[in-house]
Amino acid sequence: MPGRLLLVAAAAAVVVISTTLGPVPAAGAGLTCSGIVPMRYRYDRISITDFGGVGDGRTVNTKAFREAIYRIQHLRRRGGTLLYVPPGVYLTGSFNLTSRMTLYLARGAVIKAVQDTWNWPLIAPLPSYGRGRERPGGRYISFIHGDGLHDVIITGENGTIDGQGSVWWNMWRQRTLRFTRPNLVELMNSKGIIISNVVFRNSPFWNIHPVYCRNVVIHYVTILAPYDSPNTDGIDPDSSSNVCIEDSHISVGDDLVAVKSGWDEYGIAYGRRSSYITIRRLTGTTPFAGIAVGSETSGGIENIYAENINLYRVGVGVHVKTNAGRGGYIRNVTISDVYMENVRQGLKISGDVGDHPDEYYNPNALPYVKGITVRDVWGVKVREAGLIRGLWNAPFTGICLSNVNIRGWPGPGRSGGRWTCEHVSGAAHEVNPWPCAELASPQHTGSCLNSP
Ligand SMILES: *[C@@H]1O[C@H](CO)[C@@H](O)[C@H](O)[C@H]1NC(C)=O
Ligand SMILES: *[C@@H]1O[C@H](CO)[C@@H](O)[C@H](O)[C@H]1NC(C)=O
Ligand SMILES: *[C@@H]1O[C@H](CO)[C@@H](O)[C@H](O)[C@H]1NC(C)=O
Repeated sequence: MPGRLLLVAAAAAVVVISTTLGPVPAAGAGLTCSGIVPMRYRYDRISITDFGGVGDGRTVNTKAFREAIYRIQHLRRRGGTLLYVPPGVYLTGSFNLTSRMTLYLARGAVIKAVQDTWNWPLIAPLPSYGRGRERPGGRYISFIHGDGLHDVIITGENGTIDGQGSVWWNMWRQRTLRFTRPNLVELMNSKGIIISNVVFRNSPFWNIHPVYCRNVVIHYVTILAPYDSPNTDGIDPDSSSNVCIEDSHISVGDDLVAVKSGWDEYGIAYGRRSSYITIRRLTGTTPFAGIAVGSETSGGIENIYAENINLYRVGVGVHVKTNAGRGGYIRNVTISDVYMENVRQGLKISGDVGDHPDEYYNPNALPYVKGITVRDVWGVKVREAGLIRGLWNAPFTGICLSNVNIRGWPGPGRSGGRWTCEHVSGAAHEVNPWPCAELASPQHTGSCLNSP
């Protein structure tokens, strides 16, 4: 088994990548997530093959993964342990990670989920959701799962974690799902997480779901699922703080990145916010949103910063979404340096999106939305510039647009010029086409342009 060389190679690759990135705008080009979570070198290493793992694409390796991780958990080697997955296709059922481990996928290594939907284990619903997101009751455990962990790294040489989601998507399409589909990777109540240099494919549901976590770095990842695959969100930081996502490509069937914080009365009662989420140098394609906040926002969402986002063929470029019943707040969100091309709607900020967990939600729990800055946006082939619609009894304030240029489709019948606003105030500076009168209230202009 290759040893320390591997780690050195991976570390070197990271350094090289960060200096050879394509033409990114000056703003933020030099900033990285490094430092949020220290990269650890593990001197204790084991290989999945030491535990009977066979990468022939047919052998089921669930026992090998569970035993290897059991060994890491109970031997507790100083500095943690690296679990090496050599080239080959390792079919397996779901498994749990443990603290102080690195899951290392060699180039050509594929960890592939069995399609055994009937025997897939169940776990309790998240307390901030009160039930599974798509079906009442519990939910299927994520393919790779962790709860209460610290110091976990998933990395390698761009090996693949493949959820083989098609059977799950078909159950959703045929309405035969008994419980909520599994995420590809979910980490709960964990801290000190790095996910880098891995390809994620065909998740049954959301791809990467850090929930109740802090200090999470996700970079140099590729996330792929078909354009028409249902609910295959890329990365959903949920009731988590200090999450940094950068230098990644995501092409999936739902939002590329969606920041969340719990669902209606359950999320309000649990009261865990998402804050300090940074997203930068992301490219992607989706029929839904490029960068999303919401719609589950009941624990509050604040201090979100996204920059250098390149979107091609997306439904909505930037979508901030919430609903009556959610309660909570969305404040201090800045999105800058966005290029979007072939887009249905450039910007959408709306208070009427998403469903409710049950009939016990409180329709008077209104979301509070204040301080959303969108600046330096260039859109081409955009069908509709934007829609900003607050709630009549909870208007959105401090909505600031600056240097936003949205173009329609070239040629006859081109559109793209339209903005719709309602129950909103804020400011607009150098916005083309000119947006709504609601964003011209002079008393807000100063605060807008001074916001970070
Ligand atoms: C994995 O963790 C979950 C809870 O986090 C637990 O319910 C389940 O039993 C664990 N599975 C295994 C195989 O240890
Ligand atoms: C892995 O993929 C990322 C994202 O595409 C890329 O930037 C990087 O060069 C690749 N890393 C390795 C070690 O091949
Ligand atoms: C707004 O969020 C940014 C991080 O995105 C943070 O640096 C800044 O301090 C926040 N501003 C306020 C007033 O909290």
